[in-house]
Amino acid sequence: MTVPMNRREMLRSIGLTAGALASYRLVRAQEGQPHPLGRPSTYAWVKPGRPVTAAIMGAGGRGRTYAGYAQAFPEELKIVGVAEPIPNRNEFLAKGHGIPAARRWDTWERAFEVPKFCDAIIITTPDHLHYGPAMAALEMGYHLLLEKAIAQSWTQCNDILALARGKRAIVGICHVLRYTPYFRMMKHVVDSGRLGRLLSIQHLEPVEHIHMSHSFVRGNWRNSRESNPMLLSKSCHDLDILRWVAGRACTKVQSFGSLRLFREDMAPPGAPARCADGCPVESKCPFSALEIYLRRKTWLGHKDTPGDDDASIREWLGRTNYGRCVYRCDNDVVDNQVVNLEFGDISASFAMEGLTSYAGRRTRIMGARGDLVGDENQLDVYDFHAKERFLWTVLEHGQVDSGHGGGDYGLVRDWVQAVGRSDEGLLTTTLEASMESHLIGFTAERSRLEGGTLKVVDGRALRTGK
Ligand SMILES: NC(=O)c1ccc[n+]([C@@H]2O[C@H](COP(=O)([O-])OP(=O)(O)OC[C@H]3O[C@@H](n4cnc5c(N)ncnc54)[C@H](O)[C@@H]3O)[C@@H](O)[C@H]2O)c1
Repeated sequence: MTVPMNRREMLRSIGLTAGALASYRLVRAQEGQPHPLGRPSTYAWVKPGRPVTAAIMGAGGRGRTYAGYAQAFPEELKIVGVAEPIPNRNEFLAKGHGIPAARRWDTWERAFEVPKFCDAIIITTPDHLHYGPAMAALEMGYHLLLEKAIAQSWTQCNDILALARGKRAIVGICHVLRYTPYFRMMKHVVDSGRLGRLLSIQHLEPVEHIHMSHSFVRGNWRNSRESNPMLLSKSCHDLDILRWVAGRACTKVQSFGSLRLFREDMAPPGAPARCADGCPVESKCPFSALEIYLRRKTWLGHKDTPGDDDASIREWLGRTNYGRCVYRCDNDVVDNQVVNLEFGDISASFAMEGLTSYAGRRTRIMGARGDLVGDENQLDVYDFHAKERFLWTVLEHGQVDSGHGGGDYGLVRDWVQAVGRSDEGLLTTTLEASMESHLIGFTAERSRLEGGTLKVVDGRALRTGK
């Protein structure tokens, strides 16, 4: 029998009223009030006596995003230094934040040649340049906002953790999904007990095929040695969400996956090295660089074409990876991967699918008394004991004031509070918690490459023998 939706009762039963949810709509934090994203265990937001000061290492997409928070909320955060080798990016950030020449550098190393000059360092360099600046910054006593993936190996991650703890530094890892209204609500539903004892989780990350080709075949994350394996560079967010929602440590990991499509042997007959070099299938190829970048002018975001006109874009396509045939790149990261996990007696599975027609993470959670289905837009919760269903939608309830479903600014807001009040407990997630998802990622990658199921015991991955 279907019982009509009783949303109010459902919300009350999990400890939230419509009024409480309305707080998601607030953009600006209010003195003494809970965090605007209304996370379950809220703290009272306190206006900093002075803005937290920070320097940015790497003024690309992420660096600009976090710097944008300082422009939106100058009373909270001030950007006072930048290291960035690409002149126009360096210039853009320096101008926007009034950074003097003495605090502008072409590479991160130089920023640590001068005495400590601000509270914190924001590290938004590419993955292979996280470890160096993180260690240098911690050594000098800075707090950190560090982009994921933390580093390129488990050993490097442990070095960062040890130094951070030794120096009592506050380190925020940019697992932005934890700061979104949508994933907070998911976590809250699970923790409220409304689904009963948690039994299993299925989680899918559909990357979307053009995004896949742009970032993971032609772009910065195409090669695991230069960046990280896909599970770390893209899906450490998802592993982190799985660990968070499960609420307990991962105990077993097994993974399969491969690079199946974007390989030389899959190239159409006669396809040249670059799409513009007379490719016979260019007009039909869904990954045509001419179509994506030149005709549609999409995915050009931060790639620094010399101009927006066709001639400039053609010239740029002729000399960068973005003009290359997707079957003839130096990419090695997978386009499909599955991971099976156990979190004690909770089973979970994760799939990264590169070649989807859509994006937006999908999650299904099964409990002993109900289930949850989510697609990053809505959560559909059904309690089959009470025979009640409720729908929670981002559109209706979520405060989304920035990228990643509101997570970008949600993260910076918490981090500024944590640094300003010298209290790492104000962060939704800690470095230790982020390390757990990285350990799952490194372990799963080992399983994919070497085979077998690996047990995770006390921060170490051990083969089970089966
Ligand atoms: N949290 C998230 O959701 C999320 C999303 C995208 C990217 N990321 C991560 O953020 C980081 C940056 O990604 P992005 O998309 O901004 O890339 P990006 O390429 O747009 O920016 C990186 C910048 O670092 C600069 N750089 C390179 N070498 C440098 C050096 N020696 N010193 C200083 N700067 C240097 C580059 O010129 C570039 O401008 C990566 O680690 C990436 O994996 C995280």
